Amino acid sequence: MIDQNAQKKLAGEYAVRYVKDDMVVGVGTGSTVKYFIDKLAEIKHKIRGAVSSSSQTTNLLKQYGIAVLDLNSAGPLDIYIDGADEINHSLEMIKGGGAALTQEKIIAASSRKFICIADESKYVMKLGNFPLPVEVIPLARSYVAREMVKLGGAPNWREEVITDNGNYILDVHNLDILEPIALEEKINNIVGVVTNGLFAKRGADELVLAKRDGSLDVLR
Ligand code: A5P
Repeated sequence: MIDQNAQKKLAGEYAVRYVKDDMVVGVGTGSTVKYFIDKLAEIKHKIRGAVSSSSQTTNLLKQYGIAVLDLNSAGPLDIYIDGADEINHSLEMIKGGGAALTQEKIIAASSRKFICIADESKYVMKLGNFPLPVEVIPLARSYVAREMVKLGGAPNWREEVITDNGNYILDVHNLDILEPIALEEKINNIVGVVTNGLFAKRGADELVLAKRDGSLDVLR
């Protein structure tokens, strides 16, 4: 048996095999991704650089001397590697636990292949046990919160957080997510919402899942 951190390391390090010579790699955010970056640093001379999804990831990449490129000039990308807060059997996800969901979703949309790296605790039958992060324009915070209540959710303002884009995060509990794509679209249509953490319309293409027994599955 291996613990959650060891599982994250296993999945993160494994994902380096998706990186080929001369690639620009899209890099997500979080503790699983940190293990990917540690390993990516070992082959940094083979790649053209990385596109970063957050200031946290940018700092890490720079510490390793990995070139951080602008998506506007570097995209579309071959691959995007990122973790998830939850992922289901259709490879639909909830993301945004690290508040970087908007950049993550933009880079995912601009990438041909999304590889999700996760420990076994993230793999769920149904999304929604993890509260859904929703990034909102500050002025719209209360309005969007009321709209979330109408959808059956219980929103909680993550008061200590301002996103890299200068916005707020609402963590919405208790949503009954029966149709992830439909709900993703519905929430995105509420005025004042920048992005919600459902990554269903553009889910992952592959899941590198590290398990408690120390084994690793690649699911498509
Ligand atoms: C960041 O905003 C999230 O989408 C992360 O992908 C997610 O929180 C996974 O983080 P860990 O790898 O730290 O569990």
